[in-house]
Amino acid sequence: MPLLTIERLNVTFATRQGRVKAVKNISMSISNQEKLALIGETGCGKSIVAQSILRLLPKNAQINGRILFQGRDLLLVDEKTMASIRGKEIAIIFQNPSLALNPVYTIGWQVGEPFRIHQGANRNQSIQESIRLLSYMRFDKPGSAVKMYPYEFSGGMNQRALIATALALHPKLIIADEPTQGLDRTLIKQIIEQLDRARKIHSSSMMLITHDLTVAQSISDWIMVMYAGEIVEQARTRDFFQSPLHPYSQGLLGSLPKNGFHPIPGQSPSMIENLQGCQFHPRCKWAKEQCLNDKPELLSLNRRLVRCFLYG
Ligand SMILES: Nc1ncnc2c1ncn2[C@@H]1O[C@H](COP(=O)(O)OP(=O)(O)O)[C@@H](O)[C@H]1O
Ligand SMILES: [Mg+2]
Repeated sequence: MPLLTIERLNVTFATRQGRVKAVKNISMSISNQEKLALIGETGCGKSIVAQSILRLLPKNAQINGRILFQGRDLLLVDEKTMASIRGKEIAIIFQNPSLALNPVYTIGWQVGEPFRIHQGANRNQSIQESIRLLSYMRFDKPGSAVKMYPYEFSGGMNQRALIATALALHPKLIIADEPTQGLDRTLIKQIIEQLDRARKIHSSSMMLITHDLTVAQSISDWIMVMYAGEIVEQARTRDFFQSPLHPYSQGLLGSLPKNGFHPIPGQSPSMIENLQGCQFHPRCKWAKEQCLNDKPELLSLNRRLVRCFLYG
């Protein structure tokens, strides 16, 4: 049985402008110790998938579908159970460490929080655990680092502190939402390596959300591509980078600097309007009559999935 199975997840927002369909009928699963990278342009619905799993969606969201974690539907469990799963069995690392950390508390107090919340540790015990975690994340002087405040650290150090916090209680699933956003290339590599090392030691599974294909390629087993709230392709990472099938995936790869930096023309459709046919057709050089009128299904081809009429 997979660790996490999402079945037909739909998330819409009621707004003054109309109903925003942020996530449309998404299904996926992650097995033990597997690493899945969820990729796609900003605004395509990636973070909403993460927030759905943790039940952290904004109030104006309407959600339906099933999110089975170790067989239990997270959309049905009570808030108390959910609170015990959040941060303990499923950990999340957010994209902006300076927002996730509270400026008025020391790093040690914040990194030690899971031990106080979930294990009843006292102040001293939780600080001791922080020191252990920070040394684990290769901080030079963890004993002094715990006494410092977030503003005294670089963005990279704060992110490492947050990774330490996320892994504190050996979560079964780590959700990392753009964990390297805003960091420079050398730091990105370091952070991703440390994250993966820590994940491996705890035998956790991971959902990595990123719009950085290089990061996705370096760490994942599976790639899942979202476009305008839908899954358009899913494949083993190696297969995906060798031969992306969906024209959107091909466009994403073509826009990488090493592939000549050819951005995909146009922009993704509004999530409010109901665009007929394939959601990608206005930007697709292969678009034919059928693509304008009919909606392609997600096809299964040699252990891959693709939503495009080019393949059947
Ligand atoms: N509270 C909200 N109310 C209305 N629309 C929202 C809200 N939160 C997110 N959205 C919309 O949902 C879509 C998906 O957002 P998100 O998952 O954050 O994208 P990303 O792929 O960049 O993480 C976006 O188009 C965004 O405008
Ligand atoms: Mg996001």
